[in-house]
Amino acid sequence: MKLSKRIYDMPFSGTRKLTPYINKAKENGKKIIAMYVGQPDIKTPKGFFEAIKKFEPEVLAYGENYGNPELRKAMSDYYKGYDIDFEPSEIFVTVAGSEALLFALLATCDPGDNILSVEPLYTDYNLMTKEINVNIKAITTKAEEGYHLPSRDKIDPLIDDRTKAILLNHPNNPTGVVYTDEELEMLADIALENDLFIISDEVYREFVYDGLPYKSLASIDRIKDNVIIVDSVSKRYSACGARIGNIASKNKDFTANVTKLCQSRICAPTLDQVGAIELYKTPSSYLREVNKEYQHRRDVVFDLLEKMEGVICHKPEGAFYISAKLPVDNAENFLIWMLENFEDNGEVVMVSPIQDFYSTKGLGTKEVRIAYVLEEDKLVRAMELLEKALHEYSNYEAIHSKN
Ligand SMILES: Cc1ncc(COP(=O)(O)O)c(C=O)c1O
Repeated sequence: MKLSKRIYDMPFSGTRKLTPYINKAKENGKKIIAMYVGQPDIKTPKGFFEAIKKFEPEVLAYGENYGNPELRKAMSDYYKGYDIDFEPSEIFVTVAGSEALLFALLATCDPGDNILSVEPLYTDYNLMTKEINVNIKAITTKAEEGYHLPSRDKIDPLIDDRTKAILLNHPNNPTGVVYTDEELEMLADIALENDLFIISDEVYREFVYDGLPYKSLASIDRIKDNVIIVDSVSKRYSACGARIGNIASKNKDFTANVTKLCQSRICAPTLDQVGAIELYKTPSSYLREVNKEYQHRRDVVFDLLEKMEGVICHKPEGAFYISAKLPVDNAENFLIWMLENFEDNGEVVMVSPIQDFYSTKGLGTKEVRIAYVLEEDKLVRAMELLEKALHEYSNYEAIHSKN
């Protein structure tokens, strides 16, 4: 018996690739400072748990296909705080951002269609597009250029008659880039001129630093029919386990038809939606504090990283990741070497290779993504470990390249 070609063709998630080596290192007694997954350590607002404790129905019933009405209203109010106008009827609650992405892709693309996406990209875009037989035509960005977009003449040739959408992640995982107004307007022009949807994954909307203004694609009026917003409580409220997200769009054709996808899986979890209503009522001071904390962590990691010999990185403007090019032949080999051969007082740091955050094979082999989701003292120690490991590895590489 054989499984589907689809499932064999799907890659494994890039963020989990080194798990067997990590487990082995742990079994061998090493303490791993984990900067390889985007799991924040920030406390989830208490309101989430309190609402769930208070919820005592006799039957834990199905909810509405579109989502809990009170939650859709709370989400609509939240958007108003950003001058984004979505009525509750234009918002669909999903099983986190992951299902929102899948629904947006399923609703806009047929098998064999193409989308544009900026690489390096959130690694699961590679999985999801393979899952539904959609091809990514990558807009490649470079470490040396701070991972900002290339000029339009590099993007236009990627579009053909099977291109249906631009999938943008703003702020970006793994690069931390917040796209400038000029970049967003350029994408808006491209979408309008070529009749493309823009699926804008804005799950890191609150994580924009240095007082930079954040512009959602949903606030550009001339593309309001093109835009589908993907959102989630996972990172915003440090509630990754709640599995609550949403899509939102003003496009009436989209909202009428995406309903079928919502119906096909009945509803998002009833209990978590009850908690999520309270998340959206969290005072904005919570988000301001979290923003301050991440900005500080970014500064700590960036200041140490940029001083390391041979490392190329730009100060990211948002999200909670830094992508950096390391002075090694192959970052994945270096990380495996680190897990197997390196320790300092029993400790080792682990980050992600970002090869699998590209959709173009062979790119990003020297780059890593560092998730600064830990407290300051751990970040400082982690960067010390990385620097020591890079130094030791350069000796190791020198010896092995001679043999
Ligand atoms: C850019 C981006 N989009 C979507 C997601 C999906 O998150 P969730 O399904 O937890 O909402 C993630 C998770 O890391 C992400 O980084």
